[in-house]
Amino acid sequence: MRLEGVSRSFGSLKAVDAIDLDVPAGSFFSLLGPSGCGKSTTLRIISGFETPDTGRVIIGEEDVTGMQARRRPTAMVFQNYALFPHMTVGENVAYGLKVRKWSSAAVRERVADALRRVDLSEFTDTPVTSLSGGQQQRTALARAVAIEPSVILFDEPLSNLDVALRHQTRAELKALQHRLGLTSVYVTHDQEEAMALSDRIAVMRFGRIIQVGTPRRLYQEPETAFVASFLGGSNIVDEPSVAHRLTGQTLSQGRVLAVRPEHVRVGVAGGEPAAVLSRQYLGSHAMVAMEVKGQILQARIPGDQELSERTTLGVDAFRSVSDDR
Ligand SMILES: Nc1ncnc2c1ncn2[C@@H]1O[C@H](COP(=O)(O)OP(=O)(O)OP(=O)(O)O)[C@@H](O)[C@H]1O
Ligand SMILES: [Mg+2]
Repeated sequence: MRLEGVSRSFGSLKAVDAIDLDVPAGSFFSLLGPSGCGKSTTLRIISGFETPDTGRVIIGEEDVTGMQARRRPTAMVFQNYALFPHMTVGENVAYGLKVRKWSSAAVRERVADALRRVDLSEFTDTPVTSLSGGQQQRTALARAVAIEPSVILFDEPLSNLDVALRHQTRAELKALQHRLGLTSVYVTHDQEEAMALSDRIAVMRFGRIIQVGTPRRLYQEPETAFVASFLGGSNIVDEPSVAHRLTGQTLSQGRVLAVRPEHVRVGVAGGEPAAVLSRQYLGSHAMVAMEVKGQILQARIPGDQELSERTTLGVDAFRSVSDDR
């Protein structure tokens, strides 16, 4: 699946601004960004529910930009699942096939197959409203998979689940995607979810893609302060004298330092004097806010590390990034 120079404005708002994307067949690709950055609009353009002002949508070798949504080889899984409440699980999964005028024997076979894949066979005749949230989510996935789309589109499909179920369903979704070789575009504002699921992530902001890469690459080599902060969390050091004292670096115009909290060492000999502002105990670790010459830094330290109000800190690793805050 490919997007080439896709834009979409609503009045004077550029919801999607000249986006290029390349999603290889069989891969899991996420669009990650804060609320309102244009993720859902991009997904709707891929599915055909929204028409771009400019640019092209290519699926396989075919330009589908002008093609109606129901003719496209895409299926969408929504945040609220958009299941039909008056139908059974099986009827929900059958719906898209009936719309496509499949024979009832073929529908029956495909529904059974799709429900088996998501481990819901025993619920075929159960009213969908009596399922748990996680089971409803899997029903929505089965419905999407049933039509054998070339590309499956997910719009924050796990955000209605509680944390434990979200983590479990996330693992199941990843396994299923891998097993079925589904080409997936997944929208989320949850950086951990994007990291856990994706082969590649595009970080979006204000309708634009800021950086694309593997989770590891984005985490280790963010190019901008926004990417460093949004994905994995970073301290941004923009005070030249503090940057120099902590790292020996001279900040150049338009650049700042990104320092991960786990790369801040607390209570080191020869470190910079720092005042502890707050401490949050989180079990395995604690997050400590400290101040050095007006610059506030978060450090991740072992949960049981002793700490006095005045301490010292040092930085093990940092990265120079462009300042797009
Ligand atoms: N049909 C529409 N008419 C007018 N403005 C719209 C329309 N659809 C989206 N927008 C605006 O476009 C921008 C991008 O919206 P979009 O739904 O793509 O964001 P998002 O990244 O999915 O956000 P969220 O994480 O909150 O779902 C927002 O400012 C939104 O208000
Ligand atoms: Mg959205």
